[in-house]
Amino acid sequence: MTQSLRIGIIGAGAIARGAHIPNYQNYGEHVVVVGVANHNLHKAEACAEEFAIPHAYERYEDMLHELELDAVSICTPNKFHAEQAIAALEAGCHVLCEKPPAISPEEAKRMKEAAEKSGKILMYGFHYRFHSEMETLKRFIDEGELGDIYAVDASYNRRRGIPGWGVFTNKELQGGGTLIDNGVHMLDAALYLMGYPTPKTVLGSTYQEIGTREGVGLFGEWDYENFSVEDMARGMITFTNGASLQFQSSFAANIEEKDVQHLQIMGNEGGAQVFPLKLFQEKHDTLLDVTPRYLKDQDPHQHLLHHFIRSILGETVPSSTPEQGLVLQTIVHALYESAKTGKAVEL
Ligand SMILES: NC(=O)c1ccc[n+]([C@@H]2O[C@H](COP(=O)([O-])OP(=O)(O)OC[C@H]3O[C@@H](n4cnc5c(N)ncnc54)[C@H](O)[C@@H]3O)[C@@H](O)[C@H]2O)c1
Repeated sequence: MTQSLRIGIIGAGAIARGAHIPNYQNYGEHVVVVGVANHNLHKAEACAEEFAIPHAYERYEDMLHELELDAVSICTPNKFHAEQAIAALEAGCHVLCEKPPAISPEEAKRMKEAAEKSGKILMYGFHYRFHSEMETLKRFIDEGELGDIYAVDASYNRRRGIPGWGVFTNKELQGGGTLIDNGVHMLDAALYLMGYPTPKTVLGSTYQEIGTREGVGLFGEWDYENFSVEDMARGMITFTNGASLQFQSSFAANIEEKDVQHLQIMGNEGGAQVFPLKLFQEKHDTLLDVTPRYLKDQDPHQHLLHHFIRSILGETVPSSTPEQGLVLQTIVHALYESAKTGKAVEL
C-alpha cells in the first residue's frame, strides 16, 4: 500500500478515545486519523490535541465534505448512528459504526440500503466476536463439532453497573437501556455463533426496579432522577429453523457478581460455554469436557479495528454485515414491543 488510509472520527467520547483512535493509530503508518468531529467543538479540539489529529470539527458534515476521507468511525449516542453512517456512506466512506446499529429496524434498513448503494463497507462495533474464546469456538462450530445448534442461553448481567457517564440512561438518545447497550453484545455473540438464523417469535419483559433510586454505583454514580430506560431485560426468541435463544441482561440486579457474561451453546453433536471456553461432547461411549490449553491473548477492540482496516484493504471479509445489523435491530425492537404489550411478537 502506498497511499495512506484517511480516517475520520464522529463523536469524541469514551469509545473513540479508548478504542477507535488508539487502535487506528497503532495499525501502522499507512492509517492516519485526519479529523475528529463532535457537536461540542471543545471536545473535538481537546481530542485532536490529545491524539495529534490535525483537524477538529463541530459539524461532522463539514469534516465529510472537506477531508476526502476513506473511512469513518461513528462513536456517538445511538440516536445519531443512522443519520451519520448514511451521510458517511453517501460521502463515499467505509463505515465502522458502534453498536447497536441504530435505535429502530427502519433505521438499520436504511443503513443497509445506503451501504448497498454506495458499495462501501458498513461494519458494526461488535467486539465480542473478536474475543479469543469466540474466534476459537466459531472455528469448531464451522467444522461441525457441535452439529446443529438448537438451544442457546445468553446473558450479560451487572449487579450495579449503570453507566455513570454519557447518555446511557436516556431513552430518547439511546433507544433503551441494558438491552440495547450491554445486552446487544451477548445477543449478537449468540446469533453469530448460531449462524444468524431467521427470527420467528419474540417474547420479552423489561424492568425498571433499581435505576430510578439512589444506590451504590459500581460503574460511576448514575443520574437516578433522569433514569428513563430499563435496568433489566429478559426474553425468548425462536427461529424458523427450530432453534431457540433465552436472553437476559441487566444494568442493575440483585445478583452476586459485579459483571458477568454467560453464553451456553447446545448442539446435537456437542455443546460449549464461551466465557471461559469449554466444550462438551460424547465420543466413543465417553462424555468429554474439552478445555483449550492455549488461547491467543488479544485485545478484542484492537482486533476489531484492525479487522476493519484489513477489510478495506481487501485482505479479509468484513466480520459483520448490514443485514445482520437489521436482524439484530428487529429482535431488539420486538423484545421492547413484546415487553410493552405483554404479547409475543410474530416476525
Ligand atoms: N463496543 C463497545 O464496547 C462500546 C463501549 C462503549 C460505548 N459504545 C458505543 O459507542 C457509542 C458512544 O459511547 P461512548 O461511551 O463513547 O459515549 P460518550 O458519551 O463518552 O461519547 C459520545 C460522544 O459523542 C458526542 N456527541 C453527542 N451527540 C453528537 C452528535 N450529534 N454529533 C457528534 N458528536 C456527538 C458527545 O459529545 C460525546 O463526546 C454508543 O453508541 C455506545 O453504545 C460501545
